[in-house]
Amino acid sequence: MKKYLVIGNPIEHSLSPKLHNYWIKKNNINANYIKKNINEDDIKSIISEVKDGKINGVNVTVPFKKKVIPFMDKLSPEANDSQSVNTIYIQNGKLIGHNTDISGFELGIKYCKYDISNKVVFILGAGGVVPSIILALKKMGAAKIIISNRTKNKAEDLKNFFDKIEIVDWGYTPNFDMIINATSIGLKNEDGIKLDFSSVGFNKFFYDVIYNPKETIFLKRAKLFGNKTENGKMMFIYQAHQAFTIWNKLMPDIDDETINLLDQ
Ligand code: ATR
Repeated sequence: MKKYLVIGNPIEHSLSPKLHNYWIKKNNINANYIKKNINEDDIKSIISEVKDGKINGVNVTVPFKKKVIPFMDKLSPEANDSQSVNTIYIQNGKLIGHNTDISGFELGIKYCKYDISNKVVFILGAGGVVPSIILALKKMGAAKIIISNRTKNKAEDLKNFFDKIEIVDWGYTPNFDMIINATSIGLKNEDGIKLDFSSVGFNKFFYDVIYNPKETIFLKRAKLFGNKTENGKMMFIYQAHQAFTIWNKLMPDIDDETINLLDQ
Protein backbone atom coordinates (compact mmCIF):
# COMPACT_ATOMS: atom_id res chain seq x y z
CA MET A 1 0.00 0.00 0.00
CA LYS A 2 1.34 3.43 -0.92
CA LYS A 3 1.70 5.97 1.86
CA TYR A 4 1.30 9.73 1.60
CA LEU A 5 1.31 12.38 4.28
CA VAL A 6 1.06 16.06 5.01
CA ILE A 7 3.49 17.47 7.56
CA GLY A 8 3.01 20.68 9.50
CA ASN A 9 2.60 22.20 12.93
CA PRO A 10 -0.23 22.72 13.72
CA ILE A 11 -1.86 20.26 11.34
CA GLU A 12 -5.25 19.53 12.94
CA HIS A 13 -7.07 21.96 10.63
CA SER A 14 -5.77 20.34 7.42
CA LEU A 15 -8.37 18.80 5.14
CA SER A 16 -5.72 17.28 2.85
CA PRO A 17 -6.27 13.71 4.14
CA LYS A 18 -10.02 14.02 3.54
CA LEU A 19 -9.55 15.19 -0.05
CA HIS A 20 -6.69 12.87 -1.03
CA ASN A 21 -8.32 9.79 0.54
CA TYR A 22 -11.54 10.64 -1.32
CA TRP A 23 -9.67 10.71 -4.66
CA ILE A 24 -7.68 7.58 -3.70
CA LYS A 25 -10.93 5.68 -3.10
CA LYS A 26 -12.68 7.08 -6.20
CA ASN A 27 -9.79 5.92 -8.39
CA ASN A 28 -9.34 2.52 -6.71
CA ILE A 29 -5.77 3.23 -5.69
CA ASN A 30 -4.20 1.13 -2.96
CA ALA A 31 -2.93 3.98 -0.81
CA ASN A 32 -3.47 5.94 2.37
CA TYR A 33 -2.89 9.63 3.17
CA ILE A 34 -2.42 10.81 6.74
CA LYS A 35 -1.56 14.06 8.53
CA LYS A 36 1.44 14.25 10.82
CA ASN A 37 2.25 16.94 13.35
CA ILE A 38 6.02 17.25 13.41
CA ASN A 39 8.87 19.29 14.83
CA GLU A 40 11.70 20.62 12.69
CA ASP A 41 13.98 17.81 13.96
CA ASP A 42 11.65 15.21 12.43
CA ILE A 43 12.11 16.44 8.83
CA LYS A 44 15.32 14.46 8.34
CA SER A 45 13.83 11.06 9.23
CA ILE A 46 10.70 11.66 7.14
CA ILE A 47 12.84 12.58 4.14
CA SER A 48 14.92 9.41 4.53
CA GLU A 49 11.70 7.36 4.58
CA VAL A 50 10.77 8.98 1.25
CA LYS A 51 14.21 8.11 -0.14
CA ASP A 52 13.80 4.52 1.07
CA GLY A 53 10.42 4.26 -0.64
CA LYS A 54 8.53 3.82 2.65
CA ILE A 55 6.68 7.06 1.99
CA ASN A 56 5.59 7.79 -1.59
CA GLY A 57 4.89 11.51 -1.38
CA VAL A 58 4.71 14.36 1.12
CA ASN A 59 2.76 17.58 1.26
CA VAL A 60 4.33 20.29 3.38
CA THR A 61 2.46 23.03 5.17
CA VAL A 62 3.13 25.80 7.72
CA PRO A 63 5.82 26.37 8.98
CA PHE A 64 8.04 23.95 7.01
CA LYS A 65 7.65 24.98 3.35
CA LYS A 66 11.04 26.69 3.37
CA LYS A 67 12.67 24.50 6.00
CA VAL A 68 12.47 21.33 3.85
CA ILE A 69 14.41 22.93 0.97
CA PRO A 70 17.95 21.95 2.16
CA PHE A 71 16.85 18.29 2.17
CA MET A 72 15.84 18.27 -1.51
CA ASP A 73 18.09 17.03 -4.36
CA LYS A 74 16.40 19.34 -6.81
CA LEU A 75 13.78 22.11 -6.81
CA SER A 76 11.25 22.63 -9.58
CA PRO A 77 11.36 26.15 -11.11
CA GLU A 78 8.19 27.04 -9.15
CA ALA A 79 9.71 25.91 -5.84
CA ASN A 80 12.93 27.73 -6.65
CA ASP A 81 11.21 31.00 -7.58
CA SER A 82 9.04 30.98 -4.45
CA GLN A 83 11.63 29.33 -2.17
CA SER A 84 8.69 27.29 -0.96
CA VAL A 85 8.01 23.54 -1.25
CA ASN A 86 4.56 22.06 -0.64
CA THR A 87 4.91 18.81 -2.62
CA ILE A 88 7.72 16.27 -2.46
CA TYR A 89 8.22 13.28 -4.74
CA ILE A 90 10.92 10.98 -6.12
CA GLN A 91 11.87 11.17 -9.78
CA ASN A 92 14.67 8.99 -11.18
CA GLY A 93 15.91 8.38 -7.65
CA LYS A 94 16.12 12.10 -6.89
CA LEU A 95 14.08 13.91 -4.28
CA ILE A 96 12.18 16.74 -5.97
CA GLY A 97 10.70 19.70 -4.11
CA HIS A 98 7.86 21.29 -6.00
CA ASN A 99 5.34 24.07 -5.41
CA THR A 100 1.68 23.68 -6.42
CA ASP A 101 0.46 26.72 -4.43
CA ILE A 102 1.30 29.15 -7.25
CA SER A 103 -0.88 27.49 -9.87
CA GLY A 104 -3.37 26.50 -7.14
CA PHE A 105 -3.91 30.18 -6.39
CA GLU A 106 -4.08 31.10 -10.08
CA LEU A 107 -6.62 28.38 -10.91
CA GLY A 108 -8.64 29.23 -7.78
CA ILE A 109 -8.93 32.87 -8.88
CA LYS A 110 -9.82 31.86 -12.43
CA TYR A 111 -12.49 29.51 -11.09
CA CYS A 112 -14.28 32.44 -9.46
CA LYS A 113 -13.89 34.42 -12.70
CA TYR A 114 -12.07 37.40 -11.25
CA ASP A 115 -9.79 39.21 -13.69
CA ILE A 116 -6.58 40.28 -11.95
CA SER A 117 -5.11 42.17 -14.88
CA ASN A 118 -4.45 45.84 -14.12
CA LYS A 119 -5.79 45.51 -10.57
CA VAL A 120 -4.22 46.88 -7.40
CA VAL A 121 -3.87 44.01 -4.94
CA PHE A 122 -3.30 44.48 -1.22
CA ILE A 123 -1.86 41.48 0.65
CA LEU A 124 -2.08 41.12 4.43
CA GLY A 125 0.73 38.94 5.75
CA ALA A 126 4.26 37.97 4.73
CA GLY A 127 4.35 34.29 5.71
CA GLY A 128 5.16 31.13 3.79
CA VAL A 129 2.40 31.31 1.18
CA VAL A 130 2.92 34.95 0.17
CA PRO A 131 5.79 34.49 -2.35
CA SER A 132 3.59 31.96 -4.21
CA ILE A 133 0.69 34.42 -4.27
CA ILE A 134 2.93 37.24 -5.52
CA LEU A 135 4.28 35.06 -8.35
CA ALA A 136 0.74 34.08 -9.40
CA LEU A 137 -0.50 37.69 -9.23
CA LYS A 138 2.41 38.89 -11.36
CA LYS A 139 1.74 36.14 -13.88
CA MET A 140 -1.91 37.20 -14.04
CA GLY A 141 -0.93 40.80 -14.73
CA ALA A 142 -1.66 42.66 -11.48
CA ALA A 143 -0.87 46.36 -11.88
CA LYS A 144 0.42 46.85 -8.34
CA ILE A 145 1.02 44.68 -5.27
CA ILE A 146 1.00 46.26 -1.81
CA ILE A 147 1.98 44.27 1.28
CA SER A 148 1.37 44.87 4.96
CA ASN A 149 2.60 42.66 7.76
CA ARG A 150 2.53 43.02 11.54
CA THR A 151 6.28 42.39 11.58
CA LYS A 152 7.26 44.92 8.94
CA ASN A 153 10.80 43.64 8.29
CA LYS A 154 9.38 40.31 7.06
CA ALA A 155 7.47 42.25 4.40
CA GLU A 156 10.62 44.28 3.62
CA ASP A 157 12.54 40.99 3.13
CA LEU A 158 10.17 40.10 0.29
CA LYS A 159 11.51 43.13 -1.57
CA ASN A 160 14.82 41.26 -1.97
CA PHE A 161 13.01 38.77 -4.18
CA PHE A 162 10.32 40.89 -5.76
CA ASP A 163 11.03 44.39 -6.94
CA LYS A 164 8.13 46.76 -7.47
CA ILE A 165 6.14 45.58 -4.46
CA GLU A 166 5.12 48.31 -2.05
CA ILE A 167 5.19 47.91 1.73
CA VAL A 168 2.83 49.78 4.05
CA ASP A 169 2.49 49.86 7.84
CA TRP A 170 0.29 47.27 9.56
CA GLY A 171 -3.07 48.95 10.16
CA TYR A 172 -2.81 51.32 7.18
CA THR A 173 -5.53 50.89 4.53
CA PRO A 174 -4.44 51.89 1.01
CA ASN A 175 -6.70 52.03 -2.07
CA PHE A 176 -7.06 48.63 -3.69
CA ASP A 177 -9.26 46.53 -5.97
CA MET A 178 -8.55 43.21 -4.28
CA ILE A 179 -7.41 42.37 -0.76
CA ILE A 180 -5.98 39.00 0.29
CA ASN A 181 -5.78 37.78 3.86
CA ALA A 182 -2.66 35.62 3.89
CA THR A 183 -2.22 35.80 7.66
CA SER A 184 -3.31 33.07 10.03
CA ILE A 185 -5.76 35.47 11.68
CA GLY A 186 -9.19 33.93 11.32
CA LEU A 187 -8.12 30.30 11.63
CA LYS A 188 -9.50 30.34 15.15
CA ASN A 189 -12.32 32.78 14.52
CA GLU A 190 -10.28 35.56 16.07
CA ASP A 191 -10.44 39.12 14.90
CA GLY A 192 -7.02 40.70 14.52
CA ILE A 193 -7.24 42.46 11.18
CA LYS A 194 -7.16 46.22 11.54
CA LEU A 195 -8.90 47.37 8.42
CA ASP A 196 -11.02 50.44 8.00
CA PHE A 197 -13.89 48.78 6.12
CA SER A 198 -15.86 52.01 5.83
CA SER A 199 -13.05 53.71 3.89
CA VAL A 200 -12.59 50.77 1.53
CA GLY A 201 -15.82 51.39 -0.31
CA PHE A 202 -17.87 48.55 -1.72
CA ASN A 203 -17.58 46.23 -4.70
CA LYS A 204 -14.02 45.25 -3.88
CA PHE A 205 -12.84 41.65 -3.96
CA PHE A 206 -11.99 40.17 -0.55
CA TYR A 207 -10.10 36.88 -0.67
CA ASP A 208 -9.10 34.78 2.32
CA VAL A 209 -6.54 32.03 1.91
CA ILE A 210 -8.19 30.30 4.89
CA TYR A 211 -10.81 27.68 3.93
CA ASN A 212 -11.55 26.24 7.36
CA PRO A 213 -13.56 27.97 8.85
CA LYS A 214 -15.50 28.60 5.65
CA GLU A 215 -16.19 32.23 6.34
CA THR A 216 -13.74 34.19 8.50
CA ILE A 217 -14.71 37.40 10.30
CA PHE A 218 -12.71 39.20 7.59
CA LEU A 219 -15.01 37.81 4.86
CA LYS A 220 -18.19 38.20 6.93
CA ARG A 221 -17.50 41.86 7.49
CA ALA A 222 -16.50 42.43 3.85
CA LYS A 223 -19.85 41.00 2.77
CA LEU A 224 -21.74 43.30 5.15
CA PHE A 225 -20.04 46.24 3.44
CA GLY A 226 -21.19 45.02 0.00
CA ASN A 227 -18.02 43.41 -1.32
CA LYS A 228 -17.42 40.23 -3.31
CA THR A 229 -15.81 37.49 -1.18
CA GLU A 230 -14.09 34.17 -1.70
CA ASN A 231 -12.28 31.75 0.59
CA GLY A 232 -9.22 29.61 -0.16
CA LYS A 233 -11.13 26.40 -0.84
CA MET A 234 -10.56 26.24 -4.60
CA MET A 235 -6.88 27.17 -4.19
CA PHE A 236 -6.62 24.33 -1.71
CA ILE A 237 -8.36 21.88 -4.05
CA TYR A 238 -6.24 22.84 -7.05
CA GLN A 239 -2.93 22.60 -5.20
CA ALA A 240 -3.96 19.15 -3.92
CA HIS A 241 -5.15 18.15 -7.40
CA GLN A 242 -1.71 18.81 -8.86
CA ALA A 243 0.11 16.96 -6.08
CA PHE A 244 -2.22 13.97 -6.54
CA THR A 245 -1.68 14.04 -10.32
CA ILE A 246 2.11 14.05 -9.94
CA TRP A 247 2.14 11.21 -7.41
CA ASN A 248 -0.45 8.95 -9.05
CA LYS A 249 0.02 9.95 -12.71
CA LEU A 250 -3.72 10.29 -12.82
CA MET A 251 -5.84 13.43 -12.89
CA PRO A 252 -8.78 13.13 -10.47
CA ASP A 253 -12.12 14.87 -11.06
CA ILE A 254 -12.96 18.16 -9.41
CA ASP A 255 -16.74 17.89 -9.45
CA ASP A 256 -19.49 19.20 -7.16
CA GLU A 257 -19.06 16.19 -4.88
CA THR A 258 -15.35 17.00 -4.44
CA ILE A 259 -16.07 20.66 -3.75
CA ASN A 260 -18.91 19.93 -1.32
CA LEU A 261 -16.84 17.35 0.51
CA LEU A 262 -14.82 20.10 2.14
CA ASP A 263 -17.90 21.86 3.52
CA GLN A 264 -18.87 18.94 5.71
P1 ATR B 1 5.33 31.98 9.04
O1 ATR B 1 5.30 33.45 9.37
O2 ATR B 1 6.10 31.15 10.03
O3 ATR B 1 5.65 31.68 7.61
P2 ATR B 1 2.59 31.69 8.40
O4 ATR B 1 1.47 31.00 9.08
O5 ATR B 1 2.89 31.36 7.00
O6 ATR B 1 3.86 31.46 9.29
O7 ATR B 1 2.38 33.26 8.50
C1 ATR B 1 1.62 33.78 9.48
C2 ATR B 1 1.28 35.21 9.05
O8 ATR B 1 0.19 35.64 9.85
C3 ATR B 1 2.40 36.18 9.27
O9 ATR B 1 2.33 37.18 8.28
C4 ATR B 1 2.06 36.73 10.66
O10 ATR B 1 2.58 37.99 10.94
P3 ATR B 1 4.03 38.14 11.65
O11 ATR B 1 5.02 37.98 10.53
O12 ATR B 1 4.01 39.49 12.23
O13 ATR B 1 4.10 37.05 12.68
C5 ATR B 1 0.57 36.82 10.57
N1 ATR B 1 -0.11 36.82 11.86
C6 ATR B 1 -0.40 35.75 12.63
N2 ATR B 1 -1.07 36.13 13.74
C7 ATR B 1 -1.23 37.48 13.65
C8 ATR B 1 -1.85 38.48 14.48
N3 ATR B 1 -2.47 38.15 15.62
N4 ATR B 1 -1.81 39.76 14.06
C9 ATR B 1 -1.20 40.10 12.91
N5 ATR B 1 -0.60 39.21 12.08
C10 ATR B 1 -0.61 37.92 12.44
